[in-house]
Amino acid sequence: MGLILRDVFLCCAWIINVASFKVTVPERYLLAIRGHPAVLGCEFTPDPDLSNLVVTWQRQEDARVVHSFYYQQDKLDRQSPEYHNRTSLYISELGKGNASLRMHPVGLKDAGQYLCQVSNAKGAGNALIELDYGALYSEPRFNIHVNSTAVAVQFETEGFPKPEVIWVGEHNQNLSSHLEIQDQTEDGLFYIKSSYEVQKSLVNVTLILKNQLLNQNLERLVFLSYVSDEDGDGSTAVIILSILSVILFAVVMFLLLRKQIKSYL
Ligand SMILES: *[C@@H]1O[C@H](CO)[C@@H](O)[C@H](O)[C@H]1NC(C)=O
Ligand SMILES: *[C@@H]1O[C@H](CO)[C@@H](O)[C@H](O)[C@H]1NC(C)=O
Ligand SMILES: *[C@@H]1O[C@H](CO)[C@@H](O)[C@H](O)[C@H]1NC(C)=O
Ligand SMILES: *[C@@H]1O[C@H](CO)[C@@H](O)[C@H](O)[C@H]1NC(C)=O
Ligand SMILES: *[C@@H]1O[C@H](CO)[C@@H](O)[C@H](O)[C@H]1NC(C)=O
Repeated sequence: MGLILRDVFLCCAWIINVASFKVTVPERYLLAIRGHPAVLGCEFTPDPDLSNLVVTWQRQEDARVVHSFYYQQDKLDRQSPEYHNRTSLYISELGKGNASLRMHPVGLKDAGQYLCQVSNAKGAGNALIELDYGALYSEPRFNIHVNSTAVAVQFETEGFPKPEVIWVGEHNQNLSSHLEIQDQTEDGLFYIKSSYEVQKSLVNVTLILKNQLLNQNLERLVFLSYVSDEDGDGSTAVIILSILSVILFAVVMFLLLRKQIKSYL
């Protein structure tokens, strides 16, 4: 009888322990930005004895191992190759119940669901976190093409995901423009090329590029005023040409005169 009572007590104590063991993520959603380390937060009910601690980070979609820790050390033999050298835990924080994962660098393929699984002497559990990915658009590289009939202002940039591109005129009006988007490189960045064309010798436009995911809002003013061939460069060229011919004429006259003078002598 006494034996049974003790078993019941042990059993209930175990249930209470399990119930009090928790794995949680401070944020269910995390936005990773290209070029910055991503820290996937995960907390669990700590236990001073680390010898029983097992931490495994896995991709939820296909169970790929992202990082694992047991026997008080990183155990990376089952780590999926695409995560090699990019992940780490905060070892000194494990005793405090912090199983956060640091990932650097991050790329487009890292976007997805991550499962933080922890077990120690107090129990076992897991929590899910979703990682999204974005890349800030680089400073636009401008090109200006001018010919006798038109001016074309063009820029190129790279980022992720697809941006919103608007060209705005002097009176804040939307201008029609040409936009080209290409899937790019192994980074998975989009290559953006956009141009605005006008048949005027004065250009005053603002390029607005927005990356909604990252709250990026680039605004660049392009102002260009030039003197067209008809009322400037053309006549200047003629004047220079006429000056040259005058000099040429004088030189020829001098040589001729010298010849004549010589023959007289
Ligand atoms: C990880 O880093 C080590 C040392 O820096 C290097 O030898 C190894 O090739 C790297 N592995 C991968 C998959 O990049
Ligand atoms: C875990 O530790 C890391 C590194 O010290 C820290 O940045 C993070 O905020 C901690 N996370 C939690 C949930 O305490
Ligand atoms: C001038 O440039 C515009 C835009 O770049 C182009 O469409 C047009 O064909 C060019 N005209 C000439 C005469 O080169
Ligand atoms: C260009 O347009 C902006 C408004 O978009 C205006 O504030 C500015 O004065 C204009 N510049 C010139 C030189 O016209
Ligand atoms: C200009 O275009 C943007 C984005 O396409 C749109 O949100 C805005 O309402 C347009 N403005 C005008 C005045 O048409």
